[in-house]
Amino acid sequence: IYRRDDHLSQACKDLVSSLPSEEGWVATSFCLYQGFWFPTWLFNGVLACQNHFQAQPSDILLVTNPKSGTTWLKAILFALLNRAKYSDSDSKQCHPLLTQNPHDLVPFLEVKLYLQQENPDLTTFESPRLFATHLPYSSLPGSVRDSRCKLVYLCRNPKDMFISLWHYANKRRAEEKGQIPLPKCLDKFCRGLSPYGPYWDHVMGYHKASLEMPEQVLFLMYEELKEDPRVHVSRLADFLGCPFSDEELRDGTVEGIMRMCSFDNLSSLEVNKSGKLWTGQENQWFFRRGKVGDWVNHLSAEMADKIDQVMEEKLRDSGLNF
Ligand code: A3P
Repeated sequence: IYRRDDHLSQACKDLVSSLPSEEGWVATSFCLYQGFWFPTWLFNGVLACQNHFQAQPSDILLVTNPKSGTTWLKAILFALLNRAKYSDSDSKQCHPLLTQNPHDLVPFLEVKLYLQQENPDLTTFESPRLFATHLPYSSLPGSVRDSRCKLVYLCRNPKDMFISLWHYANKRRAEEKGQIPLPKCLDKFCRGLSPYGPYWDHVMGYHKASLEMPEQVLFLMYEELKEDPRVHVSRLADFLGCPFSDEELRDGTVEGIMRMCSFDNLSSLEVNKSGKLWTGQENQWFFRRGKVGDWVNHLSAEMADKIDQVMEEKLRDSGLNF
C-alpha cells in the first residue's frame, strides 16, 4: 500500500523533521502542522496542494474528516451534478457510478492529485470541477478562500466516526499484526491524535465558516442525510445553484439519486467488491456497515463517556453538539 514516508521530497523531509510527531494508528506517524495532526506520508500532497492548487469560483470542494461518509457524499454530489446526463432509462444503465468507485470519479486533492504529481494539470476537468479534501479550513490553499468557490462539509457523530476509523485502520494494518487495541486508539483520539485531528477543531473550523459565509460553505451531518435525504439533498442542490425543478421533485429524481448512492446499491457493485484504489486500498474497505449508532456494538459506556466528555468540553460555546 502506498503510504510509505520514504516517498517524501527533501523539502518535506526537512519540514517534517522540524515538526512535533507522534505514533499514528497504522504504519506511519502523525506530524503536527498548522495545529492539526497530518499523516506523515501525505506531506508531499499537502504542501503541493497548498502551494499550487488554483481554485476557480465555479469549483466545488467536498470536505470531510476521514470516515465521516466521504465516499457516500462523493457519490451523491457526482450523481446530483450529472443528473441531466443520466436521466433516461438507457443512459441510467451506463451511469459511471455503476462501474467506477466514487473515489475515482471525485478525486482527492492532497490524497491523490497533488500526491501523484507536484503540480498536476487540472484543465481536463469539466466545469464545475468537483474535488475532495480532508484539509482543515485553516490549512486550505489560499485560492480556495479567495475564489469563493463552494465548500460542502460533511460531519459525523464522533463515536461512529471513531469506530469506523478503528475498523479501517485495522484493514490497512498487516494481518499478522492483529487488531490495534481499541483503548489505545481511544486514548489517541481523545488527545486529538487522529488523521487531520483534533476532530473537534476540524469540525469547528468548517462550522464557523458555514455560519460566517453561508453562501460559500454548507455544513451537513451524516445522520441528518440518513434521516431525511430528500430535505438535505434538496438543500445541497439549492446551495450548488442547481435546484430540483418541480418536475424533478415530482418524478422521483431525488429518490433515484439516493437509490443509486445507497449503501446497499454501491456496496453490492462488482467494482466496489473487488476493485482497488491507486494506493492499493480495497474499494470494499470504504463500505462497512453504513449505519447510525454502530458505536454501541464496540464501545463500553465508559469509553463512550470519554468521547462525549471531550467533545462537550471542546465544543462548548460553538453551538454544535452531537
Ligand atoms: P462505517 O465504517 O460506520 O460503516 P469515508 O467514506 O469517509 O471513508 O467513510 C466511510 C464510512 O461511510 C463507513 O462507515 C462506510 O460504511 C460509510 N458509507 C460508505 N458508503 C455509504 C453509503 N452509500 N451510505 C451510507 N454510509 C456509507
